[in-house]
Amino acid sequence: MIECTGLGVALGGRAILSNLELTVADGERIVVMGRSGAGKTTLLRVLAGLVAPSEGSVRLDGKLASTAGNIRMEPSRRDIGFVFQAGALWPHMTVAQNVLYGLGDLPRPEARRRMTEALEACKVADLALRCTSSWTNR
Ligand SMILES: Nc1ncnc2c1ncn2[C@@H]1O[C@H](COP(=O)(O)OP(=O)(O)OP(=O)(O)O)[C@@H](O)[C@H]1O
Ligand SMILES: [Mg+2]
Repeated sequence: MIECTGLGVALGGRAILSNLELTVADGERIVVMGRSGAGKTTLLRVLAGLVAPSEGSVRLDGKLASTAGNIRMEPSRRDIGFVFQAGALWPHMTVAQNVLYGLGDLPRPEARRRMTEALEACKVADLALRCTSSWTNR
């Protein structure tokens, strides 16, 4: 469960979100809508623990994850998946190399197996050797 209480976020000295109350129950799906610049990505970044709120708090499964000026629970401990709006890719690497990079220090054969599995699951195995630079600048 995600619980935001009195959540405020200021970036560059400007209030981006203020007094946001949000509760998302386990298994519930929500859509956050708003004009460009409304703060949708900022909200996701706060939930993921990449940005600290300036006011209020975020609780995850009842545990205090963020408070004003504080990221109390590291992003890696939050069990939150996050697809970035812009592809966070290495432009000099192929699709396969980018996926392998994300698999970190796994033994090479295991990393290759998982990479292949992931590309197949996403139906992009045929793009494995494509360099990403041509589409990161779209
Ligand atoms: N690091 C930052 N420093 C200062 N201002 C920022 C920073 N990141 C975002 N902003 C500003 O915060 C506001 C909200 O940005 P955000 O990216 O959350 O909007 P969004 O709702 O996701 O927009 P879009 O629909 O275009 O993706 C914008 O005015 C943006 O310029
Ligand atoms: Mg956005």
